[in-house]
Amino acid sequence: MSVIFNPDFHPVSNDPSRHGQTIPVAFNKPAFIGYELEEVQRAIVNHRHISGAGYYTRHCESLLADLYATPVLLVTSCTHALEMSAHLLNLGPEDEVILPSYTFVSTANAFALKGCRLKFADCDAYGQICLDSVQRLVTERTKAVCVVHYAGNSTDMDALLAICQEHQLYLVEDAAQAIGTRYKGRLLGTWGDVACLSFHETKNVTSGEGGALILNRRELLERAHVLREKGTNRTQFFQGLVDKYTWVDIGSSYVMSDMNAAYLFVQLQHLDDIQAKRAQLWERYYRALLPLLPGLNARLFENAPGCDPNYHLFALVFHQPEDRPAFIRFMKERDIVAPFHYVALHDSPMGQAHYPVTETMPGTAALASGLVRLPLFYNMTELEQDCVIHAVQDYATRMLAV
Ligand SMILES: Cc1ncc(COP(=O)(O)O)c(C=O)c1O
Repeated sequence: MSVIFNPDFHPVSNDPSRHGQTIPVAFNKPAFIGYELEEVQRAIVNHRHISGAGYYTRHCESLLADLYATPVLLVTSCTHALEMSAHLLNLGPEDEVILPSYTFVSTANAFALKGCRLKFADCDAYGQICLDSVQRLVTERTKAVCVVHYAGNSTDMDALLAICQEHQLYLVEDAAQAIGTRYKGRLLGTWGDVACLSFHETKNVTSGEGGALILNRRELLERAHVLREKGTNRTQFFQGLVDKYTWVDIGSSYVMSDMNAAYLFVQLQHLDDIQAKRAQLWERYYRALLPLLPGLNARLFENAPGCDPNYHLFALVFHQPEDRPAFIRFMKERDIVAPFHYVALHDSPMGQAHYPVTETMPGTAALASGLVRLPLFYNMTELEQDCVIHAVQDYATRMLAV
């Protein structure tokens, strides 16, 4: 298998003469193994199939189905997988859905689009939904909880499942950031009725844009196929189960192109390499930055107990919100992109106008105002990481001197 030249991929350098050098460091570069373009070319030239449901889609779905031991459908994004979930579970305007406020807007939109009432829960120091908050929010109208496995970590899934079982609530897992991660040894994405993955270019494994719907309730599979294929039974037609295909339900176009799936196929085959490289980078940051915390006046964002994470992100959490913009500016002056993450949804214009909170939100506020992420991506070089570490060291030294 030949490796195509990748201009961004420099071998990791241990050359001490390169230390102290500064180069611009992007926050993220999409993971690139090296022969994705060959597979995309094969989709175009050999298979001559670049729309959905082709060779690469089938192979990616089969790799994911083996991993999760249940049917998985490739879709256009995690956003769409979440929308499909809300639809498949027949959620509507009478229904309340509990979700964290500290999440990406797609988690909320999926249910807002169905007219559901959103109930925002607080999160803990690991960015995971607080279960006492969930318990307080449950009413007779509650139909579902959408848990977000922020940073590839999770809350206590046994306890969450028990709450859902007690109140007969559906459980949707927003596992956008959580491919391959586990809680108490069990894969995240296999706990809920359905779960959603993202293959956006910022995620560990990517197809540019893309996602997957994990169907832990197999009886939803047939309808999920229909929903993905614009409300038609096209999948059954190609399986030879019906002699023509037609409109049978509502739906939309959630089908991933086989060109994207060809890129994804290579990435999924290298899932273990990607996770291992990220773990190595994450641990290198951790060891280098832990001694700097007094100067930074921050904590490191840790992995949650019981989790085998996928090292999706490395973050600092400043104790004083006013320190964060100063740090981001300092990094920017060094040509390093270190962004914050979510604006709490309950504080957004949509949240304030339509979904007032009854919970206090100290955990959410601490992360929304204090968390900052450092560059971390599969093809990151040691030199790039050293530049980030040296910049953080300089910032911490400067703060100690003040
Ligand atoms: C928690 C969470 N949910 C959903 C999404 C949406 O994923 P996508 O870009 O694949 O639609 C993201 C993307 O960053 C996310 O972080």
